[in-house]
Order: sequence, then structure tokens, then C-alpha cells
Amino acid sequence: MNSIVELPGDSWTQAVPPDVQNRAIEDLEQGRVLFFPRLAFTLLPEEEAFLKPEWGAGGAKNISFERETGKIWGATGSEAEKTALSRMLRRYADSTREFLQNLFPTYAASLLQARTSYRPIEIAGRPSSYRKDDTRLHVDAFPSRPTGGRRILRVFSNINPEGKPRCWRVGEGFREYAQRFVPRVSAPIPGSRFLLSLTGITKGYRSLYDHYMLGLHDQGKLDIEYQKQSPQEAFAFPPNSTWICFTDQVLHAVDSGQYLLEQTFHLPRAALRHPELSPLSVLESIVGRPLCASSL
Ligand code: SIN
Ligand code: FE
Repeated sequence: MNSIVELPGDSWTQAVPPDVQNRAIEDLEQGRVLFFPRLAFTLLPEEEAFLKPEWGAGGAKNISFERETGKIWGATGSEAEKTALSRMLRRYADSTREFLQNLFPTYAASLLQARTSYRPIEIAGRPSSYRKDDTRLHVDAFPSRPTGGRRILRVFSNINPEGKPRCWRVGEGFREYAQRFVPRVSAPIPGSRFLLSLTGITKGYRSLYDHYMLGLHDQGKLDIEYQKQSPQEAFAFPPNSTWICFTDQVLHAVDSGQYLLEQTFHLPRAALRHPELSPLSVLESIVGRPLCASSL
């Protein structure tokens, strides 16, 4: 299926040669995962203490950090320890930002940096509701965080110190997946999306695009036959490697792994080289109507 492409590069800060930039943007926008086997996020000696699952408060899957405000969520520890953990996450936020600016110069002016996340818990064997179960193939769409058609671009780095890979599966292309599940997504109830934003359930207005993306996410995860039988490729990302993809386009699932750093960026459709390949354009062509009020 060729959904994962290997690229050279072992530095977060060095310039990226134009031929690599060109291959990277083409493969990324086609819906492939860019895999950098030698791009390691190396912890500082004082950061190694954070390689324990106990840092997640109450067994939370994610410790989240917001670079803009310096806020951290979901972590245990004293104020001093949380400050030290925030410093590590800020370092990751800065490294991934610089790397993406080098790798995708045409995106640089439009990239919006969102949450940085640290996942210190083993994935395998974690109980979870079907909606939150990321061991089922899905594209990312979050009930409380509508994107309004903006892309979700994510950078992942496996920082496992015990040699354990992060094991993913990648499914069929976005168009095939959307064509299969769009007919199962019910039309939104008039007024309901406005109410959701008015009551603060969603952060901002859930556009029709967000409605369909959430529907695809839920219907895909609910279809056990599809989960078992659909075409999929397994891939183990080793420790000290990094990978990047549009998680709103790449059908993905994680089976196992522990100690992952992840940085989310958003990007408007207009910043893409091939806007027609975006989930927004693909869904609009399937549904036959515009799905966002503003033309992104
Ligand atoms: C996901 O985005 O579904 C989870 C990826 C991971 O934690 O490896
Ligand atoms: Fe996901």
C-alpha cells in the first residue's frame, strides 16, 4: 500500500534540501506518513526522570502543554516538577516548529501551533469507550474541538528508553473511507450545532465539515467488520524515530507503545499545494455542497 515513506534527516534545526522538501509535501498531501528513522528527540539527563507512567494524573492518556500560555494539564507532581516537565514539552514544541518550517517552507506563514502532548502510558490493554479507542482505525475529529476545515498536522516522536516500538496500522485512502461512511452519517439536526457552541460544549461553532468528520470517526470505529477486514498496513515506529502526517486524512490506529511525544499544528486549506486532496474538498465533492461558511 505504500502508506509510509522514509525520508532522510537527523536534525531539528538544519536546512532541508529542496528535493526532500518537494517529496515531503507531495507525499504528505497525498495522505502518506513521512517517516524519519534517524530524527530522534533526545532527552536531557534531567528529563529522563519523566519516563514513568505515574506522571499522568489519574491514568490520563495525555499530558498536554500549551506553548503560548505555558499551561500544562493532566500531570502530577510538585509545581517545580511540573515546571521541569513543561520545559521538556516546550523544547519539543520549539523543535517540531523549527523542523516543519524547514521541511515545509510554503506552510511556514500559515502554521498554527496547537497542543503539545506527552503519552507516558502503555497503549496495549487500556480499557476505553469505542469513541476514545484509538486502537480502532479512525481519522482525527474531536467532539469539543471543531477545526472549521483547518487541517490537523501532527508530529510524533517515540522516546521509549526500553527499545519498544510504537505500533500503528494505516488504512485505505481518505476518499474510499469517506465514500463508504458518509451515507451512514445522519444530517445534523437544525439548530443543534449552534446550541452546542452557545452552551460551551464545543469550543467554537461545529461546522458541517466538523459534523461529517465526527460522523466518519464514530461510524468507522463502530464497524467491527470494517475494522477487521479493511485493507491496512502495520508499521512499527522504533524508538528515536519521528513521523509526521495529516491525521484528519490518514486512517490510523495505534496498537501498542509507551512514551510518545506529539505536537499538533493546524493549517488552512488555502495553504496546501493540492487543496483538492484535503478532507474538506473530498467531502464537499461527495456531499455536493460547501461544508464551511468561510472559504478556507
Ligand atoms: C492517535 O492519534 O490515534 C494515537 C496515536 C498514538 O498515540 O500513537
Ligand atoms: Fe488519532
